[in-house]
Amino acid sequence: MMVPESNRIRFKGQKLLLVDDDASLLKLLSIRLHHLGLNVLTVESAAEALAALPVFNPQLVITDLRMDEMNGMALYEQIQQTRPMLPVIIMTAHGTIKEAVEATSLGVFGFITKPINHIELNEQIEKAFKLHTNLAYDFLDAEWRENIIGQSSVMESLLKDLYHVSQSDISVYIQGESGTGKELVAQAIHKASPRKDKPFVAVNCSAIPEELLESELFGHKRGAFSGAIENRKGLFELADGGVLFLDEIGDMSPSFQVKLLRALQEGEIRPVGESQTRPIDVRVVSASHRDLKQMVEEKTFRLDLYYRLNIVTLKLPNLTQRPEDIPLLVNHFIKSDAKVKKISNEAMEILLGYEWPGNIRELKNVIDQVCAFATTPLIPASLIEKALQKKSLSIPSFNEARKKFERDYLIQLLKLAGGNVSHAARIAKRNRTEFYRLLSRHMLKPANFKEENK
Ligand SMILES: Nc1ncnc2c1ncn2[C@@H]1O[C@H](COP(=O)(O)OP(=O)(O)OP(=O)(O)O)[C@@H](O)[C@H]1O
Ligand SMILES: [Mg+2]
Repeated sequence: MMVPESNRIRFKGQKLLLVDDDASLLKLLSIRLHHLGLNVLTVESAAEALAALPVFNPQLVITDLRMDEMNGMALYEQIQQTRPMLPVIIMTAHGTIKEAVEATSLGVFGFITKPINHIELNEQIEKAFKLHTNLAYDFLDAEWRENIIGQSSVMESLLKDLYHVSQSDISVYIQGESGTGKELVAQAIHKASPRKDKPFVAVNCSAIPEELLESELFGHKRGAFSGAIENRKGLFELADGGVLFLDEIGDMSPSFQVKLLRALQEGEIRPVGESQTRPIDVRVVSASHRDLKQMVEEKTFRLDLYYRLNIVTLKLPNLTQRPEDIPLLVNHFIKSDAKVKKISNEAMEILLGYEWPGNIRELKNVIDQVCAFATTPLIPASLIEKALQKKSLSIPSFNEARKKFERDYLIQLLKLAGGNVSHAARIAKRNRTEFYRLLSRHMLKPANFKEENK
């Protein structure tokens, strides 16, 4: 027997959410669409559809127009708020041209009248997948976002922006407080981009002393300075064809900012001690927990470099701005521990009420810690309380520790030298200019350490 053309398998398991308050039609239609190769979830109201969205992550929604409570157009408008790219097809038994025109002018993908003409419906579904294919496939279940947990609308819209900017080579600046996932997002940009098969190279600009940063990024020639025993490629070259992630860019010294700007403007670098420049093909993504714009106003960050790095800003929300993601993150972090299964409701409530100054990194540390101490499969509230109390005594981040050390060291030095900068710089084995820069970074005034001021 010949299978009619309209019943041929033509889809590859794409997810379709089907909404209709007519249960029998829902059943018939879903069986048919299932046979065509679609992964169909049916719901009988718009409210249920909205609840199913974040769980099912459909690539297409087909909904009836006339439904009690919330109709198909209202559902479409709600979907638009959180997933503007998700195509929606509306079905109606009372279809008029006027309604169809209105709906499509509002951005509804398609409009189909009941009784349903299957050939027409198939065509609309195919067209929806074709036009949204990249987005639907690459966006929803995609590998690039698999490590990023979060279904809050702020995260969804951030990920959507991220996906779009990833497709081109424009510079992206990621701003977010400590532990909000800046590095993870930078990696996702790489994974979602056409450069994904080329290297991703990350460098923390604040962890590398200024005098080493140049050779680290641009490389050096053998003999360029003492210790340069062989030619070495810089990170720009190692990232060739891929993405270079400049982390904590706000900590880069003004003099190095000039060098970086030149490299980005010219599209070439010159290794230390080398006379020839080399072309570079690198996409730059940068990040900082500082407010670069404010730094520009304070003249500690160059405006021209700011414009070059910051064509698009992705601003990461603090964890407290997306509390609905906390349970998801908690379960995600627990999963990596085999002996712990769940967290008690009371414990979850405490986590939901906490301020999270260290954001996701802090949440992860707390969960790792309670999992390590848990003796039962269900984590009790007391364990969480203990972990949160200990946090206040916990060790600072590397950057914080480094900053404190530098400051204490400089104070000690200035005291010893009685506020004489040349003297202090000599003891520290730094030149005066550099030493002044260190002092200003810590807002220390040598005059305050002079004998007569004591
Ligand atoms: N959305 C997320 N889903 C799952 N894990 C996350 C998410 N965001 C961050 N993390 C985890 O939290 C930790 C901190 O993330 P990341 O290092 O990317 O943050 P950061 O903003 O660069 O932090 P810092 O300012 O301290 O450098 C990592 O272990 C990361 O895997
Ligand atoms: Mg980081």
